[in-house]
Amino acid sequence: MDLTQTEEDYLEAIYSIIKEKGYVRVKDIAEELGVRPPSVSEMLAKLRDKELVKYEKYSGTTLTKRGEKIGRSIKTRHNTLKRLLQIILVPEDIAEKNACDMEHHLDPKTIEQLTKFVQFVERAPPNPKWLEHFEIYCKTGDVPECDRKG
Ligand code: FE2
Repeated sequence: MDLTQTEEDYLEAIYSIIKEKGYVRVKDIAEELGVRPPSVSEMLAKLRDKELVKYEKYSGTTLTKRGEKIGRSIKTRHNTLKRLLQIILVPEDIAEKNACDMEHHLDPKTIEQLTKFVQFVERAPPNPKWLEHFEIYCKTGDVPECDRKG
């Protein structure tokens, strides 16, 4: 299904808030996305027409199965991209923001490989040498000598 970036952001936000609080209100979504409540209501009506959310004005909002699947997959992409950016020493606030920009635009294959890369780095021994060297390179511009033989 073709969704706009804004629609994907809404599904991601709704998914995250429900995961955290167990329910979601228009006000919560407005706060999370930094928009006004009337915009939220408008978008919820659109997402309801696409059968991605169930939305009743007074009883609240839930995701349909399909909406939940999309919300979860964007959230997962977001987390992977954020971890990747932090691995390469992007400060957390920027990593958070740029993960949100990147999550909409990358090819599934790229996401798959980035996910494997992040998992690989996280499973490596704590403080892999090459990451330490990368940090030194970022600070000084020098590539440290590798002290391993062979
Ligand atoms: Fe995001």
